[in-house]
Amino acid sequence: MDITITKAKQVLGELRVPSDKSISHRSIILTSLAKGKSEVKNFLVAGDTLTTMSVYRSLGVSIHEKNGVITVEGVNLFGFKEPEDILDMGNSGTTTRLTLGVLAGQKFFSALTGDSSLRKRPMGRVTYPLREMNARIDGRDNGNLLPLSIRGNELSGIEFFNKKSSAQVKSALLLAGLLTEDKTCVIEKVKSRDHTEKMLLGMGADITVEENQEYKVCITGKKELSPVEIDVPADPSSAAFFAAAAAIVPDSEILLKDVLVNPTRDGFFRKLREMGVEVLYLEEREKVGEKIADVLVKYSPDMKGIKITKEDIPSMVDEVPLLALVATQAEGETVITGAEELRVKESDRIKAVVENLRRVGVKVEELEDGLIVRGKQKIKGGVIDSYNDHRIAMGFAVLGLISEEGITIKNADCAFISYPNFFEDLEKVIRR
Ligand code: S3P
Repeated sequence: MDITITKAKQVLGELRVPSDKSISHRSIILTSLAKGKSEVKNFLVAGDTLTTMSVYRSLGVSIHEKNGVITVEGVNLFGFKEPEDILDMGNSGTTTRLTLGVLAGQKFFSALTGDSSLRKRPMGRVTYPLREMNARIDGRDNGNLLPLSIRGNELSGIEFFNKKSSAQVKSALLLAGLLTEDKTCVIEKVKSRDHTEKMLLGMGADITVEENQEYKVCITGKKELSPVEIDVPADPSSAAFFAAAAAIVPDSEILLKDVLVNPTRDGFFRKLREMGVEVLYLEEREKVGEKIADVLVKYSPDMKGIKITKEDIPSMVDEVPLLALVATQAEGETVITGAEELRVKESDRIKAVVENLRRVGVKVEELEDGLIVRGKQKIKGGVIDSYNDHRIAMGFAVLGLISEEGITIKNADCAFISYPNFFEDLEKVIRR
């Protein structure tokens, strides 16, 4: 389906965007590994997280929904059953990488595949260190690409330096580490999102965290996890689209309720502030070990261009494309570097942003590891290709709000992956 978004006068109102995708995935995976019944409130019902649910059902976990609460009957660390068929990971990198860690230490055979985007994404970052832990994994490109097969094995611990600061890699290794009596440690120069270790700690895992020059998390496994009650906050990566809309459409103001503002996730809001946008965290509070707030964002006519470098990327990795779009309206240049990871997301997001910005009349320079956006540019409008990437589709919809002729997004329905009602919610807060 193609959707056209035209110029708006103002973005105004209040929204509770859908729940956090990262925590929702983990709320199924970790509670499946626990012994007994857990409950998840405010689970994100969207393409990727439904994939996780269906995969864990195929592994023998009983998962039910009643009155909006998900009940997961955890099977304990080794209670999964051998899946009867190839596990379909859909479009979800998180489901795939975290589940590889879980399956590597089971006593059975399994095989995984995914859609055409996922089959292009590198899995070696997880499968190679898992092999160092004794995992028996094979697949295309020497085990780097789906489809992959796993013959479960007795694992041993490792110490791994997570150079890319990938939370998916860290989580996969911690989950594999949970399945061996050995100690497994992951070290990061820049800390990646820490939901897995936070939840594991809350469930009674033997896990330690040291934060000095570097970040180091260690787990000693084969200790039962206790069931938990989880209440998932709103996703900062989804809230970011509305924050961006308020930042670029004149006279706008939006209140985003109940948003996760964990410092490993709120880089986009902090960067908007650095650009001169008013972004306030109201009613800061804690919910199930995570920091949340209501986020108020106001339009600012004199936004400035900024620099985004390697250290900034992990806490805003999924929002970098959106920041590039916002930067078209700032005074001066915005230079984004150290963002080569964007090339291996649901699409090559550097290429997708550069090509689509050019299609709507914006001048932009592509770098191997980022891009340079000149500010104060007119958005003429036109037709863009979402590359079937949810975040590209939603980002350009936001840019459509300040376009002269409207922006038509091809395959806009891919928003379903993380935000099924995105276009309805956008209409709710637009004044024309
Ligand atoms: C995620 C980690 C990030 C992010 C992805 C979700 C997670 O990926 O881009 O959308 O839930 O752990 P990387 O681990 O590859 O950086």
